Amino acid sequence: MPGVVAFISAKDVPGQNRRLWFNNPEELFAEEEVICVGQIIGAIVAETREQAKRAADQVAITYQDIQPIFFTIEEAIEHQSFFDPKRKLERGNVEEAFEKADHILEGELYMGGQEHFYMETQGLIAIPKGEASEMELFVASQHAAYTQEVVGITLGIDSNKITCHVKRLGGGFGGKVMKIASLSAIAATAVYKTGRAVRCVLERGDDMLITSGRSPFLGKYKVGYMNDGTILAADITYYSNGGCTLDESSFIMEKALLHMDNGYKIPHLRGRGLVCKTYLPSYTAFRGFGGPQGLTIIESVLHEVAVKCGLPTHQVRDINLYKDEKCYTHHKQLFSPHDMVRCWNECLEKSDYTHRCLSIEQFNAHNHWKKRGISIVPLKFGIGFSKGFYNQGAALVNIYKDGSVLISHGGTEMGQGINTKAIQIASRILKVPMSSIHIKETCTGNVPNAAPSAASFGTDAVGMAVKNGCEELMRRLEPLIKKHTQYTWQQLVVEAYCQKISLSATGFFMGPHTSVDWEKSEGSAYYYFTFGACCSEVEIDCLTGDHKNIRTDIVMDVGRSINPALDVGQVEGGFVQGIGLYTIEELNFSPEGVLLTRGPSQYKIPALCDVPPQLNVHLLSNAENPHAVYSSKGIGEPPVFFGCTLFFAIKDAIAAARRERGLSDSFPFSSPATAEKIRMACEDCFTRMNPLDKKVQIKPWAINV
Ligand code: MTE
Repeated sequence: MPGVVAFISAKDVPGQNRRLWFNNPEELFAEEEVICVGQIIGAIVAETREQAKRAADQVAITYQDIQPIFFTIEEAIEHQSFFDPKRKLERGNVEEAFEKADHILEGELYMGGQEHFYMETQGLIAIPKGEASEMELFVASQHAAYTQEVVGITLGIDSNKITCHVKRLGGGFGGKVMKIASLSAIAATAVYKTGRAVRCVLERGDDMLITSGRSPFLGKYKVGYMNDGTILAADITYYSNGGCTLDESSFIMEKALLHMDNGYKIPHLRGRGLVCKTYLPSYTAFRGFGGPQGLTIIESVLHEVAVKCGLPTHQVRDINLYKDEKCYTHHKQLFSPHDMVRCWNECLEKSDYTHRCLSIEQFNAHNHWKKRGISIVPLKFGIGFSKGFYNQGAALVNIYKDGSVLISHGGTEMGQGINTKAIQIASRILKVPMSSIHIKETCTGNVPNAAPSAASFGTDAVGMAVKNGCEELMRRLEPLIKKHTQYTWQQLVVEAYCQKISLSATGFFMGPHTSVDWEKSEGSAYYYFTFGACCSEVEIDCLTGDHKNIRTDIVMDVGRSINPALDVGQVEGGFVQGIGLYTIEELNFSPEGVLLTRGPSQYKIPALCDVPPQLNVHLLSNAENPHAVYSSKGIGEPPVFFGCTLFFAIKDAIAAARRERGLSDSFPFSSPATAEKIRMACEDCFTRMNPLDKKVQIKPWAINV
């Protein structure tokens, strides 16, 4: 075909046709079996995008169906199709405690997945250098070192010949750690075959289909509680849909289990985690990394217990909170919940919670078709990697003779503000204005073997490394500073150069050795915890299922913020992403496992009208954190979970509608709380006209995976 340069498939890969992740191989090009709709079989290289697309349309493939194929968590449970390892965490004696409880409740919560919907889809440019197999990749990756490694293994070339450059990402949200490495390896294979530079940028629909997103979760629980709402024991089995390959799903499940206690001292607690293997595109990391799913399911337990006890939900949450000065999590990590309880109390106060509950009651008494609801939740979120070796950071600080400073670090800028904070830290130590300090890019040639910018730990690790590098330079400059007190910074630097003092230093941060012994159910999984609390009020329209987010108050403990504007931005941004996760964003798959929602016209992300008109973010005052740089805290991921306050507030509002109609206020409901689900949960004479209610068998157009 005109313009087509090459067709690349598994046979063109000079090294390994595998991306390896902790010994879990994933094929770059399908070789014998295609295990999901969206798997890459080959790549077409053409002069233009249009020519490549036209050529791709001409590819005809005949498939033979694999049997059986299945896509949903329920089906995977039926087929006992799970990835290893299966995880368990346990404290206390759950069975014995069930015997002592006043009541036992069993239930479940399904939480749908989420598409990253970063502004910039996955993309890269790979350029051959024409010498010694060297290659440069300009790539939007959150983990440049991993991309470099995968490209090297694919081409059979040493890492020292492959350089990955990351200027910045138009949003990553966890989605550009793993999948971009495969895409880079495919583009690099095309470079290898053609000897020409290759650009690969996914269109939105393909990006959504191929790279997938947050895993759907199903939590099945049994809980034992007392009449006053105190929870004695909970036994929760978490199932996630991992799709067709493991990717990061086992670590995501671990994080869900490690967060299953949230801020609650449930003395007897057991969690099991199983990652379902299905024939869907492989799910991957997404901001929160299993945390939101693990937390939401325990919040659902608290909510249902309160409903059953006929008690206000905030009261049941309050009496179950960790409150002692020194507490142990269910994985036996020591921590102090002091600042979490402060956030909780401040949030109750700042949101005027008690008073607003009364107003909501009045509103609901006077309105039949519109109902309001409110919800407040606490948050304890672990920061850092539970795989301890990732907890490291590195940086390179160069001072030039004109006094300007260039920083390279191992983190990647994706909008979270890592570069701004790194420059602030350097400016503070070197005592030069921020305008004299520059960060050009992240480059594997400058800072090797860097950890991914993930787990809300990137800025922490890099910040410490930059501090370390700058302090080293200041140590070298100190004698000159003392001797030439009248010198300007630039004069000092020139003098150091003339004295043959190196003006380049590496900085390193060896983070904590976190780890979990899954056999013993114990371990310090996190460096520290970021705390918070959030309260939201909503109004639903019982006839249309539409809802309005009225007001949200968040109190967040970020320690001593290095940059409050950035931190508040992260809280707001994370919360808005949570609005999408819990109330709007719904991925629909056909019964044949084809993703139907492949763009903004089918998949809705939050718009301005979804942001509560009153969104108050307060940073907790007088908070400290001895563990992180300048007593700050990681904040990138935790606020996403706060979107669940809207989910529970909607549930509260639906319950008010149902009570008025003489129906039970305990009813099944799953996330996201879409208009369709809200409408159907507000049962009335109109919903009863729905044939589904009459148990007529209709093949669904879309399935919950
Ligand atoms: N904020 C913006 N604007 N864009 C992003 O892609 N990623 C989030 C969060 N905030 C993201 C973001 C994710 S997934 C993580 S882990 C943290 O930022 C990373 O920030 P850190 O470098 O401070 O750890």
